[in-house]
Order: sequence, then C-alpha cells, then structure tokens
Amino acid sequence: MITLFILLFYQPARAVSTDLKPVHLRTEYKTNPVVDAAKPRLSWELTSATRGQLQTAYQIMVASSPALLAANKADFWNSAKQAGSATHQIEYAGKPLPARAVCFWKVRSWDKTGQPGAWSAPARWEMGLLDKADWKAEWIGNDLTALGKGKTYHLPPAPFFRKETNLKGPIKRARLYVTSLGLYEFQINGKRVGNDHFVPGWTDYNKRVYYQTYEVTSHLKAGKNALGAIVAEGWYAGYLGYALLIGNPVVKSFYGDVPLLKAQLEVEYGTGERETIATDQTWKTTHGPILEADILNGETYNANLEFEKWSETGYVDTKWKNSTVYPDKPERKLEVYPGNQIQVFQELKPKTVTLKSGGRYLFDLGQNFAGVVRLHVKGHKGDTIRLKFGEMLFPNGEIMTENLRKARATDTYILKGAKDGETWTPKFTYHGFQYVEATGFKTAPGLDAITGIVLSSATPLAGSFETDNPLINKLYQNIVWTQRSNYFDIPTDCPQRDERLAWTGDAQAYVKSATFNNDIAAFFTKWLVDLNDAQRADHAYPLYAPAPNVRKTDTYSPGWSESGIVCPYIIYKTYGDTRVIRKFWPNMVAYLAFMQAKSKGEFVYKERSFEDISPKGGYGDWLSVGKKTPPDLLASLYYGYTASLMAEMARAIDKPDEAVYYEGVFDQIKQAFLKQYTDETGKFKTNQAAYGDGEGYVIEGKSGFDGHTQTAYANAIYMHMLTPEHTQKAGNWLMDLIKENDHKLATGFLGLKPLLPALSSTGNSQEAYRLLLSTEYPSWGFEVVNGANTIWERWNSYIKGKGFENNSGMNSFNHYAFGSVNEWLFGNAAGIKVGEAGYKTVTIRPEIASEGINSVKATYHSINGMIESGWKKSGSNLTVQITIPVNTSATVFIPTTQPATVLESAKSLKTNPAILVNEFKDGYLQLEIGSGKYQFTSQN
Ligand code: BGC
Repeated sequence: MITLFILLFYQPARAVSTDLKPVHLRTEYKTNPVVDAAKPRLSWELTSATRGQLQTAYQIMVASSPALLAANKADFWNSAKQAGSATHQIEYAGKPLPARAVCFWKVRSWDKTGQPGAWSAPARWEMGLLDKADWKAEWIGNDLTALGKGKTYHLPPAPFFRKETNLKGPIKRARLYVTSLGLYEFQINGKRVGNDHFVPGWTDYNKRVYYQTYEVTSHLKAGKNALGAIVAEGWYAGYLGYALLIGNPVVKSFYGDVPLLKAQLEVEYGTGERETIATDQTWKTTHGPILEADILNGETYNANLEFEKWSETGYVDTKWKNSTVYPDKPERKLEVYPGNQIQVFQELKPKTVTLKSGGRYLFDLGQNFAGVVRLHVKGHKGDTIRLKFGEMLFPNGEIMTENLRKARATDTYILKGAKDGETWTPKFTYHGFQYVEATGFKTAPGLDAITGIVLSSATPLAGSFETDNPLINKLYQNIVWTQRSNYFDIPTDCPQRDERLAWTGDAQAYVKSATFNNDIAAFFTKWLVDLNDAQRADHAYPLYAPAPNVRKTDTYSPGWSESGIVCPYIIYKTYGDTRVIRKFWPNMVAYLAFMQAKSKGEFVYKERSFEDISPKGGYGDWLSVGKKTPPDLLASLYYGYTASLMAEMARAIDKPDEAVYYEGVFDQIKQAFLKQYTDETGKFKTNQAAYGDGEGYVIEGKSGFDGHTQTAYANAIYMHMLTPEHTQKAGNWLMDLIKENDHKLATGFLGLKPLLPALSSTGNSQEAYRLLLSTEYPSWGFEVVNGANTIWERWNSYIKGKGFENNSGMNSFNHYAFGSVNEWLFGNAAGIKVGEAGYKTVTIRPEIASEGINSVKATYHSINGMIESGWKKSGSNLTVQITIPVNTSATVFIPTTQPATVLESAKSLKTNPAILVNEFKDGYLQLEIGSGKYQFTSQN
C-alpha cells in the first residue's frame, strides 16, 4: 500500500529543493531534556505545504557544540543519509556518550521526490550522571521522628538544610543534581530552583529513586553562595493510602522513617576547572516553621518560626547542627526522572466567599481539581488560619469532607503579624477540592485571600474535542479535568481521600482515552517502571503500583493485573514505542505464564477460579449497576485479550516464534471460552449455582451472576474473542439487553470502556449516541445535569435535591475510570483510529449522530503530527474536515448515502490526484489520502 502511494505521488525530481522541514525535535519524548539512556531515542515531526508529502530518507547530525553542528562537523554522530520514513524512536548510534555530555543535534529529510529539505533548527539533550560513581553526594538527614507526636497523626516537622560555599571565578556552567527520599525543595541564594513539585516523585524507593538536574548557572556568582533545601516525608515516610482507615499495622513510613537529601552542585569555571559541592555531614540542619507536612494530611506552618534569608549567604546558622549521613542501599538505583514533573497548571480565583456560622468562610473556586491554595492574609501575630478542603457542599451549603475518610487534608497557618500582610503556599501536600473552608480570619477576607493552584504532571496537551452540544462539551471538559487531577506523578484513582494510589484496573481501562488528551508517553514510561517494579513474586501484576503494603490482603485481580500488558501495548501502539515492550518483555511473559498456570491448562477460568483472592473473585466489573458479570468469565476474556496483545507485541519486537505461540494460546482461549461460557446459540451463560449466594464476592455480588450481560458482550466484542458470526450475535444481544434496560447502560469499570465501541462495531452506533446523550441515571449526562465538573466514581455520587450516598465509604468526585468513554469520542464520534503503530497510518471513520449532535470536531497531536477530524450536518449536506500530517497515510471513510455526490474542496474526487477512491460499502465511501487538509462534502 505504501509503495503504491509512493508510486502514485511520485513526481520527477525538480531542481528546487522541497519545503519539507523537521520541527518539534525531541529526545526521549521531551524537548531538550537531560536523559540517562545510553542510546536516547530521537524524534521529529515534518511540515510541508505539499499534499501527500512523505519522508523517504533522513540524516541526523549530533555534535558537541552548536558551532560544530552549524558547520556540519558532527563529532558525536553523523547518521549519513538513511532511507526510510521513520521519524521517531530513532536510537542514537554515535560515539558512546559520557555522563554530562551535551549533545546538539539537527535533522533533515528527503521528500517523496527524493529532494532534501532544509536542516531543522538545532535541539539538544544532555546526559545525566550515569553511574553511582558519578555521585559524590551522600544521603543526609535530620531525624525528627521523635517530634511527630499526635493522637491520630504522627507528623514531625520538616528539616531544613543549608551550606555556604565559596566559588572561585567566572562560572561557565553549573548543574544541580538533586534527589531525596521524601520530597524536597531546593534553593540557591534565596531563590527556589526549578518549577517542579513533589520531586523526586514516587517510586519503590527500595529499588530506585529518580533525580532531577537543573541548569543553575544564573543562580550562582563568583564568591560566596548559599545552598538550601527543605525536605518532607512525602511518599517515602508519610501516610499512604487507606492504611490508617483499615487499621493496617503500619500506617506510614513504608519505605523509611527519616527523609533524606542527596544533592551535588557541579560548577565549571571559565578556566575549565571543575568543582563539586555535595551533601555531607557539614551541611547544617534544623527545623523551623513547617511543623507538619504530609501529602494526605496537610501542612502546618508557623510563620513565627521562620528563618529569614536562611538560604542566602551570611545567615547565622550557629544554632543549626551538622547533618547525619545515612548509608546508601547499594541495590537502589539512581536514575534520571523519565516522566513529566508535576508543575503548576493554572491558578484559579475564587468565585465567591461566604460567611458561615462560627466565623467560618467558605470559598468556592468554581472547579474541582488537585492542588493547593495560596493564602494571603493580614492579621496579628499568632492568629491561626485553618483551611479545610472539600469537593462538594451538602444541600445546606456546608462543606462535605466525609469522603476524605482518614485524609485529614487540613492546612494551618500561624501568622507572624507582618504589617503588609503575609502570603503562604504549602509545599509538600495537595488536596482534591473545589471548596475551601477557612477559620481564623479576624476580619472578613476578600476573594484575593485564597488562590487555587492547580497541580498536575506536565503532560503536553495533545487533543481537543468539541461538538455543538453543550452537554457533551461539558462531559469532555470534565474528562480533561479529571485526567489533569489524577495524572499526578502516577495515575491515581482519585486526588482527595486517603487513597491516591495508582490502581491498575483504572489505569488500564483509561489509558487509551488518556492518549487523546495529552501526550502521556513520558508519563507512562515512568509509571510502567513502577508497575513492573511492583510485579509480585508470583509474577502477577499488583492492584496498584507503587505497591506499599497498605493492606495485607491486597494482592492481584483479573481486570487490574492486565494493566501490565494493556498499558505497554497502548504506549507501543500510540507512540510506536518498541523499547517499552523489549524492556518489560520477560515480566509480561512471566505474567502470562502465571495466568496460564492459574487456568490449569484449560485456557479458561471456570466459575470460582479466583476464590482465593480478596475480594473473592477479584474486583470484577467494579461498580456496575444491576446484574453482575461473573468475574471468571471476565477474567477469561482478559486472558484471551492479553494473549492477543502479546502476539502483536512479539511481532513488533521481531519475535515471530513467540507471536505464533501467543496466537495459538489466543485461539485456544477463544475455543475454551465458547465451550465454557456460551450455549449452543452463542448466548453467554454461567453456572450461577457455583457462586452460591454470592457471599464474599465483590460488592453487590449478592444480586447474582449472569453471563448474559452488557459487560460480557461488550468486552468479548471489543477484545475480538468471537468469530465474525458470533460477534454479530453478541452485538444483537448487547442491543437487546440495552433495550430491555430501557436504553440504559449497566456497566462498571471494566464494562464501560468497551460498551460504546462494541455497539459501534456491530452496527449500533446510534444506540451508542443515545447512551452518550442520555441524562438519566446511570449516564455521563446524569452527572453533568447534577452539576459535575469532573468525572465521578459513581454515577449517582450526588443527586440534586437528594444529596449524597456512601460518602464515608467511597464517593470520589474526581475519578477518571468512567471517563473511558473518551476513547469512543475520539475513536468513533470523530472517528480517529490508529493503524500502524505510532499513527504511521490512520483510519478516519466518523460516525454521524442521527440526532442530538450536528457537528463534531476533534484534533489530535499524534507523534507523527497533527490529525484533525470534524463533521458538520446541515440539512442533507454533510461536510467532513480532515487533516493528515506529513508522512502519514490515511484510510478515510466518508459517510454518505449518495457516493456520487462526494466532493473534495468542491471538486470531483476523480479529478483529484491526491485521492484514491476505493469501494462504497455500509454507507461509507472509502478513500486513501496522504498528508494535507481536506474538505469533503456529500449529499444525503
Ligand atoms: C479505588 C478504585 C479501585 C478500587 C478497586 C477503589 O477504592 O478508588 O478506583 O480500582 O478500589 O476496585
């Protein structure tokens, strides 16, 4: 097909060179980053005004200085002209790169006619510290655990560290390499270094910890300089998850007791001489204003204990003591942070502030989100402002905090009485909230007393989605806000209660949806390490990762553990990333072997196969409504699905034998599934009696199990578990079940994602639209009409006029799992579907709503460039707007009842050399196009 394309669009070489130009150069998914991969992967995108433009070859140059690069003296690597269309995942193949090497690079591409384009603008990357021997710094700490006394929460103060140093002469370059076990904020000469929060991020600190690298040349001067750091317990030593709630024997300090700092400042002088200032016992330490700092429980700050100018030179630290040096764990790796750091996304001004009884003030920030607030207050020394955070209000207007469970989520500020007022932002905690209840104001605060600071992992924006229907637009915005709130170093389930764990089931159900909103390649590069670090000794992937021991009975569950296969697969498919497959291949193989052993050679899980885990059977179709899908039936579907993904991934990394093997396993699972879970007509069934009265099974298990459910059919169709004939039958039963259910969905976490895609693929996309547009319980629209501005954990988390249910159990208002409909919005409503991995090819097949929506427009910035698909109905006219990036070919399906009326830019398709017309089938005219912007019109 691709060759055909090249032939079709081949034009004789002209003397003029092409306008093909590489832009958006990145290394390891980031712009000008610091990396520690020995062979960093390079990528670029291409621009050109020519339709159907392709890259036929490229050349990369990497040099040790901008001047050498400009002079085409590629002393690190000159790839020479490489034939091919690859523009991403290209491994550096030059000289071995030492630690700290700065690499400047550029690329040019040859177009479809064989003309070379201009060189790109230069980009760069820098190598980090590659080896523990590169580290001179020691782990230093200040054991304050004895000060952490409290009835329920044992929260010690945060230690401060400082060091003064004399730098000799003009400084050419300086880098700060810094990390902590716990969280840190680093300052140089009184100024915070970097814009990152919650550094160095959450990992299994027994196995690895990441470090950050900052360019700090401009922070320093010749002569005296001061370095300072504040360290808090964070994920390392603070409270985690629901350990306290469920009475776990350990509630905090899952990795260690004392938070530690490790930092080294490396200075290179104009003379070429180098100097390193590294943490050691000579760093002075004490504790001061930060009395408590805990992610879940909040921060307490006494401004009267501040040390003015403590991270500047000349501060008298005679009362501070020396730091304690702590031994390193030799097996703990120190690596460059591979993800996107948490940063401030935006600030929010309160919409209202209202006086409540007892002198309380309630601020409404207008949006539920994850982050903190900046407090601005003027008052007397010793006045104490206490801030409580909630997502919702009770119908009586009071803030609802029961759903935080044991997360205290309270910030406290004790004023010093500064005459012009004082401003404070906590550093080491965050909350999930829209409302802030403040006590302690002596005079009525204005709206400027509180500013919302939205925090999120800085995953680059990738998509947009808009229709002419406000309900759907609101739903989309709610999905985006929920992803923003929960892609927080790891993909958390929710940002507010005492949980905030990266539940694997939620992650796998939503990952594909997430790809459309943001570029999550780096974010998942990081989390997939966490997930594999947390793989259990029996090779099952865990329920959440990182996986501290917050509840003894938390083991694994079908539908959750498969995250270890599904997430790498989606990252591969979306970004063409085969490294992720290679890296975790042995772990994934071991997981499949575990699942195989669990099926006892039968290739299917019969009823009660997972009785031994907690909850019995696993989490199943968590939070579904109505009849329950047997967890073993679902586990069998997932087993088949993961085997098929393994086969595809094996092919992608050139393991044809293993591909054949997993294809064989997939076939056997399909057959065994049919035998076990379908009757002679292909209808799904289960042996209900085997489950007894459902006691001990997932919540509501008592309402009985049935194989004939929306969730069962939707998953089987989505996972290609059935023959074409059975797929259609399953589609019909799915349709019957939805009709019987008064056109309402009944699915939970596992059933929801495939529901609309399964309807679409079996010819029922109008029913998918009907579910999407519904405002009755249970539906997305029901949440929207009940006031949601994020996605809720339960369809009925809050009902106007009725209030809440289940607050003290689980009632999160910021839970992305039910946002997995995003996959359908982009993939079906707008019709953007990945073909060859990395959007090398793409299918555009929009599904047109017969009512309720008259236009859809989606943009998606793929790794190959910008893809756009939009449609608009007016009367019998339909317009379809499509953009395909350079170097990408698309199969496009134009919806029409009259194929002869289809025009592009008002011209007949036949006369259009950029368009290849294929067949007309099922109400779509199928075309092949290359890059460019297209406007199709048709009469219907
Ligand atoms: C979490 C979920 C998670 C579940 C396990 C809940 O408490 O919030 O999102 O997947 O437990 O079923």
